[in-house]
Amino acid sequence: MNPSTIVILDFGSQYTQLIARRIREQNVFSIVLPCTASLETIQQANPAGIILSGGPCSVYDGDAPPADARILALGKPVLGICYGLQFITHHLGGKVRSAARREYGHAEVEIVRSTTLFEGLPRNLHVWMSHGDEALDLPPGFSLTAKTSNAVAGIADEERRIWAVQFHPEVHHTPQGTELLRNFLFRICQVKPDWTPEHFIHTTVERIREQVGEGHAICALSGGVDSSVAAVLVDRAIGDRLTCVFVDNGVLRKNEFQKVQENLRGKLGLNLIAVDASQRFLLELTGVTDPEKKRKIIGTEFIRVFDAEAHRIAQSIAQTGGPSKGSDVSAPATSIDWLVQGTLYPDVIESSSVRGPSQTIKSHHNVGGLPDTMKLKLIEPLRDLFKDEVRRIGRDLGMPDDILQRQPFPGPGLAVRIVGEVTPERVAVLQNADEIVVDEIKAAGLYREVWQSFAVLLPIRSVGVMGDQRTYADTCAIRAVHSEDGMTADWTPLPYEVLKRMSSRIVNEVPGINRVVYDITSKPPGTIEWE
Ligand code: XMP
Repeated sequence: MNPSTIVILDFGSQYTQLIARRIREQNVFSIVLPCTASLETIQQANPAGIILSGGPCSVYDGDAPPADARILALGKPVLGICYGLQFITHHLGGKVRSAARREYGHAEVEIVRSTTLFEGLPRNLHVWMSHGDEALDLPPGFSLTAKTSNAVAGIADEERRIWAVQFHPEVHHTPQGTELLRNFLFRICQVKPDWTPEHFIHTTVERIREQVGEGHAICALSGGVDSSVAAVLVDRAIGDRLTCVFVDNGVLRKNEFQKVQENLRGKLGLNLIAVDASQRFLLELTGVTDPEKKRKIIGTEFIRVFDAEAHRIAQSIAQTGGPSKGSDVSAPATSIDWLVQGTLYPDVIESSSVRGPSQTIKSHHNVGGLPDTMKLKLIEPLRDLFKDEVRRIGRDLGMPDDILQRQPFPGPGLAVRIVGEVTPERVAVLQNADEIVVDEIKAAGLYREVWQSFAVLLPIRSVGVMGDQRTYADTCAIRAVHSEDGMTADWTPLPYEVLKRMSSRIVNEVPGINRVVYDITSKPPGTIEWE
């Protein structure tokens, strides 16, 4: 049985994903659809309630995002937020105007009429506002439920089951926002909190089992959270008919090739083929200093290796009914039908949002370009989940913390942390320095607090002294950043003591580095990686 669903129509607000998150935190399933979604699409989701998000436009703008106003007549409970309130006002016969005073930031709201939406809330609320327009005349049947000193802050027509607020209940700056959303979910829509990890795992495993039938699937593993959780879910559904492939591209962290195998094969029991292709990657990278070229080489080489592996697995399935470790790559990959990918919900929303495929889409998805000839159908078991939900699912699947709590690591690996040529020697130097940074961050209890913390190798040589010896060696930069999603980041002010230990250990323990600097650049204008 499907869980109760709340549909959020996205009018382009920066907070839309946050609404979805707040609702899922209440164990209620929610999906974001672009506001342009057809009535049919919305109804297919069988929503118990509909939320209209905020948005940057005015209802009178020529390019105001269009939505089908018939959603207001479906008889489903509707909650409009910010632009959502104006949309409701405008389309049901009220009047919206440009506010004399834009409200942005903290505001005080007074509840002037009790409604189910405000049940249990105090009469005066601190809220977060962000709007330029305001409702002037309410549509027929609506009454004012809340106001600020100079504008409408809440309206409702309880008979038609439509509520709206001008402020943002989904942000932390509205402390009673969660209570308000809970009222909408549980009192108004009367949904059950049935969106639990257990439910998700059960239904996902069942669905994959049905989808794949007797077929076979492959999955490229990176050792990171998303692909590992996706693989474990598919493994639960089809067991050894899933073959995972983990490629050593020569620019992994120190001992990563072994550690990932221990974790995924040893601890999680995945059917894993580990391919040490490090030499061919490093050979291709010889003499290359241009960062984009390095990325392209690694991407192309990865696809070659993965494609060859897929053919080999397919051939062995065709011959024996199960994957083997032989090396004939001549057979076509026809007996594999499915490719497992760890796509997450934010990627899905981004590519279908009202803003269109926005500039925020990363240009560096790792397994983006598998050859068409493979004709694989996708299984993306995490495409409804946020990152923290993936971790929660992983925990319930019994996955160890050292997989679930890992900091993100880029597909092109240390190649985007070595400025200049990537040689086996320089990779080894950086691996050693990087290990120290991670060790010290963990020892200081900061590993989960920072988004990423790592070492970078710079081709800048300078003179130093070690004992009585003069040295002439490379520079290492330490990078540690706080971030929500990698799109923007602040450099982390690591404690001096931690920096001091890292610096002295790196210079003493890593031959080839005699100077350590700390990167204090945020993103923008910098990027997180150095390339
Ligand atoms: P930048 O350096 O662009 O990185 O600020 C933003 C975030 O993306 C990660 N990153 C990648 N992740 N494949 C990935 O899976 C890639 O090619 C790639 N390049 C950068 C980076 O580690 C940071 O978290």
